[in-house]
Amino acid sequence: MRHRQTGLGNTRVGITNSDGHAIGVDIGSTAVRVAIVSHGTHDGRPSASVHGMAQEYLPSGVVVNGVVTDQAAVTRALKALWAYNKFECRNVIVGVTNHQVLVRDLTVPLLPEDQMAKALPYQAREVVPFPMDQALIDFTPFADQDPDSGTVTGLLIASPKAPIVAAVSAVEKAGLHVARVDLSTFAALRSIAHEDMAVEAVVDIGAHLTSIIVHTNGIPKVVRTLVRGGHELTERLVERANLSVGDAEQAKREHGLSGRNREVSDVLTEGLKGLMAEIRGSIHYFNTMNPGVTLERISLTGGTSWMPGFAEAVSDHLGIEAGVVEPLQHVRNRWSNKDIQAPEVLRSGTAVSLGLAMGAAA
Ligand SMILES: Nc1ncnc2c1ncn2[C@@H]1O[C@H](COP(=O)(O)OP(=O)(O)OP(=O)(O)O)[C@@H](O)[C@H]1O
Ligand SMILES: [Mg+2]
Repeated sequence: MRHRQTGLGNTRVGITNSDGHAIGVDIGSTAVRVAIVSHGTHDGRPSASVHGMAQEYLPSGVVVNGVVTDQAAVTRALKALWAYNKFECRNVIVGVTNHQVLVRDLTVPLLPEDQMAKALPYQAREVVPFPMDQALIDFTPFADQDPDSGTVTGLLIASPKAPIVAAVSAVEKAGLHVARVDLSTFAALRSIAHEDMAVEAVVDIGAHLTSIIVHTNGIPKVVRTLVRGGHELTERLVERANLSVGDAEQAKREHGLSGRNREVSDVLTEGLKGLMAEIRGSIHYFNTMNPGVTLERISLTGGTSWMPGFAEAVSDHLGIEAGVVEPLQHVRNRWSNKDIQAPEVLRSGTAVSLGLAMGAAA
C-alpha cells in the first residue's frame, strides 16, 4: 500500500517526536481525536504500534462542515486531552478536510523543481474552483513516468487556505507544534484500505461530512468530500418522527435501518437517498475513467457507518460488497498502554487520527 500525504502547510518541525512517536489529530464536528503511533518493522515489513488514543467531545457549532469556527473551544479541548492523558509529545500531524478540497490528476510540463513550484499555480488555476491567492496547493508526481514525454502526471491537491489556517492556529494555541497538515481523506485511506484489495472504495461518514475515496493499489483515483452525514439524519428524525434530539439520536443508533422500528427506518432510508446517490455517482465516475476495472469492495468507517443495517443498505443499493472496517487492523500492540480509553468508545472515530499518525512513516 502506498502512503500519501499532502504538503499543505508542512513545517520544519520534526514529523515524529524525540521518542519516535507520531501523533495524529483529527478535528471532527463531534470530537477532537488523537492517536499516538510508533513505526518499526515486524517480520521484515514496516509496522505501526499504537501507544495511545483519546478523544474529547466538542459542543455542537465548534466545527461545522470540517471548518473550525470556534478556535478557542478546539484549543481548550486539546489542552484538556493533553492534560488528562498526560501526553508529553507536542509535534502533531493535523488532518484537514472541507467540501471545497479538490484532488485530481494533473499533467504539467516537466520542469526543474524550483521552476515547477512557480509554474504550478498557473497550471492549477485552470482546474481549481477558488482564487489561487486563497488556495494551498500540493502536487505529487506519480511513479512510472515516461521521461521522454516532456510532461509529468501527478495528483494535485488544493484547499482554501482559511480553514487550514484556522485549524493550525487552534492547535498551536494549545501549545502543540503542527509538523504536517494532511488530508483527512488520505488518512482514512491509510488506516482503512485493505492490503489485498486492489480496487476499493473507502467511505468515511461522519456527522457533517462524508468523504469518498476510490483507490487502486493505494493510489487515489476519485476523492470527494460531501456535506452529508449523521447530523442531518438526526434532524430529519426530529422533524418527521416528532422526536426530541436525544431520542432521535438514540433511535438512530438503536434501530437505524434494521426495520425494528418501521417509522424510524423509513425516515432514515429516505434521508440517505442523497448520500447513496453520491456514492453511486463517484463509483460510476471511477468506472467511466477506468474501463474494465472492477470495484471489489466498499469499506465503511466513521460514526454513521455503525448505524444498524447501514452497511447492508449500501451493499443492496450499489450491488457491491460493503462492510464496516476496524481502523486498528494494520497496527500492532494495540493497547500497549492499558490506561488508555476503551476501544469501544473510540472505534468509530479512529480512522483519521490513526491514519494521520501512520502517515508519518511515508
Ligand atoms: N452506532 C451509531 N449508529 C448511528 N449513528 C452513529 C452511531 N455512532 C455514532 N453515530 C453518528 O455518527 C456521527 C459522528 O461520527 P464521527 O464521529 O465519525 O463524526 P466526526 O468525525 O466528529 O464529524 P465529521 O467528520 O463529520 O466532521 C454522529 O452523527 C452520530 O450520531
Ligand atoms: Mg470525521
